[in-house]
Amino acid sequence: MNDKMAEVSKAPSADRLSNTWLESHNLKTVADTVGTPAFVYSEAHLIKNVRRIKHAALAAGIDKRVELFVPFFPNSNPHVIKPFQQLNVGVLLQLPAEYKLLKKQHGFDKFIISPGHVSNADIDFWAPTGDPMFLSSLDEISYLIKNHPKASINVRLDSLGSGKPGIKYSQLSELRALLDKSNRKLDCFELYCGSGNSLGGMVGILEQVFMIHKTYFPEASAINFAGGYAFSYEELEEEKKHFEWDEYFVRLREIAKNYGVGEHVKFWFEPARDLLGDCAALLLSIKREPIKNPGNYQVLTNGSRVLIPSAQYKERHHNVKFLDKNMKEIPADKDAIDVAIRGRGILRHDYVLPGEYTAPSTVGPEDFVLVMDVGCYCATQHMEFLNIPPAAEVIIDTAGEANLITSPGGEMDKWRHVLPEKKPL
Ligand SMILES: Cc1ncc(COP(=O)(O)O)c(C=O)c1O
Repeated sequence: MNDKMAEVSKAPSADRLSNTWLESHNLKTVADTVGTPAFVYSEAHLIKNVRRIKHAALAAGIDKRVELFVPFFPNSNPHVIKPFQQLNVGVLLQLPAEYKLLKKQHGFDKFIISPGHVSNADIDFWAPTGDPMFLSSLDEISYLIKNHPKASINVRLDSLGSGKPGIKYSQLSELRALLDKSNRKLDCFELYCGSGNSLGGMVGILEQVFMIHKTYFPEASAINFAGGYAFSYEELEEEKKHFEWDEYFVRLREIAKNYGVGEHVKFWFEPARDLLGDCAALLLSIKREPIKNPGNYQVLTNGSRVLIPSAQYKERHHNVKFLDKNMKEIPADKDAIDVAIRGRGILRHDYVLPGEYTAPSTVGPEDFVLVMDVGCYCATQHMEFLNIPPAAEVIIDTAGEANLITSPGGEMDKWRHVLPEKKPL
């Protein structure tokens, strides 16, 4: 894992907002030129998050065996994940369109494919690319063996028994028999165990994974541990937010040795939240004085629930900052109020985030709300729900300059495919 990126960590400037990588002047540029709502990403922070994992692998002595692949569906802006090209981090894809975009237009060339269940047509698309494709049923694997005899065979296992796409534990013997009958070997298997697992949980899973390798697929030259590494949205300090990769890799190495896993076997990982989560913040404008309904104070923003839907349905508490018109933090005063952060839509539930947040008593129009840790499953979940257009995306590059990477949605976006006249088919 040769790390070719130049050193990017900078000493915090006086302009830096507390416990963040964000600088007031950048946010002001964004608000003045692009407007709000806007997702603001940090290239330097993304690189730092990759390095944290790579350094842990190096310290545990398994750096030559560790490969990282970032899933594209949690953040699908090619400009955001561009630094991965030089960091030798691959991309996990699920749709042919993603491949066409990244390979043909943005020069990415290291992929794995993990699409859930797929049609035969999709298998026919992916197999000739030569990129490892993780199939989720015996039927899909039979089709691959029959129609693409030279393709590598990789499977996705359903560890949770949750009905997620994946071969069930009870089918492992059948899969083994299918491979043996066709005189084929398994190249890699993937096991995703759900998101937000603690160090203890992930170490526990290791035993299970190596047992599967030893019992069913000892020939597999790689094991894909997928994602699921806990990332804490509630913590303020950066180091406390992230998964404990150092200890995890040490334990992984020990347990692999105990199970007699050969040194040639590679370990693949697909973390999303831990890599992307704290690389972005969402900047919103406040549009009114606080609305003080009895027992329910609200701050009206130009955001929407549809910009971060997963926060709502997972009841996730993101850290939030209130900023003045110069993008300086407004400290909570003695008359601070607890407010819900309201979006601009008509829905009863159009809150950008669940629950209440402590706002300075002076907060009002011309001020801003900054929602932290929105680099994963936020911009990609936007769906122009109830006609609300998507937010702009801006990336701060390693030189500290702000660059627009997605234009703000236009007010007429929702209707961009509507024809001016009915057209008989
Ligand atoms: C197959 C697969 N890999 C990786 C991930 C990323 O998981 P996390 O964000 O928990 O690291 C997911 C999450 O949905 C997934 O389904």
